Amino acid sequence: MNNGYIAVFDSGLGGLTCVKAIMNELPEENIVFLADNANLPYGDKSKEEIVDLSIENIAFLNGFSPKALIIACNTIDSNALEELKDRFDLPIIGVITPAAIKAVLISENRKIGIMATSATVTSGQYERCLKDLDDKLEIFSLACPKFTPLIEEGRFIGEDPLMIEAIKEKLDPLLEKKIDTLILGCTHYDLLMEHIHRMAPELKIVSSSRCVVSDLKAYLLENDEFNNDNEPKRLFYATDNKEGFEKTASYIIDDIKIEIPD
Ligand code: DGL
Repeated sequence: MNNGYIAVFDSGLGGLTCVKAIMNELPEENIVFLADNANLPYGDKSKEEIVDLSIENIAFLNGFSPKALIIACNTIDSNALEELKDRFDLPIIGVITPAAIKAVLISENRKIGIMATSATVTSGQYERCLKDLDDKLEIFSLACPKFTPLIEEGRFIGEDPLMIEAIKEKLDPLLEKKIDTLILGCTHYDLLMEHIHRMAPELKIVSSSRCVVSDLKAYLLENDEFNNDNEPKRLFYATDNKEGFEKTASYIIDDIKIEIPD
């Protein structure tokens, strides 16, 4: 038993889709979340910038002495995971491996598409991970730099024509490759799941935000660290735009209250 926090870090709203998945599957756990929306998007930054910003922000979360840290960001996972593991004496769980495993398990025709940020695609991390699991896979990765800014503007809500057009622009070429499985390789894109499902109902969609919960559960089980507190604490921080972030975040998590770190 361990009543410590599970810390969750992302550049923005995407991380909340991970928090929501954790809240659904592990409702007793205490959670502290930080979005570094002051520096968003991370997906257009260099590896050095991603490493530096992640270290700076995770130091804040580390102040809560969490029992585990979820890197709820494919961009950080693919560009800074090793550096973070060297820097922080914490169990650190990333989103890429569990999403890749799920995709390999469910793809029937072995053609897998990936939508991710430019920095994730450039890193080649998904390809490496997928090929290690099955070297016969055909993998098609597409950077989608328009998605995160549109999502942060709240355009994932309803049928926003700009959002729909941006999705179509990236989904159509992947469908032409006859993929049967699509990895949403950015936690923000979990918020596009329903749109994509409507546009391509046959497609199997893997959300990196949701798959990570199985690794977290396995870690807690193995180390006997589940929480037994009946009133879980949930703390949400963002580095900028408290009101605006809170408003859009409330479409993901009911009654969410955002604080700015001191
Ligand atoms: N949510 C992040 C990811 O999973 C990154 C979004 C961004 O800041 O570009 O890659």
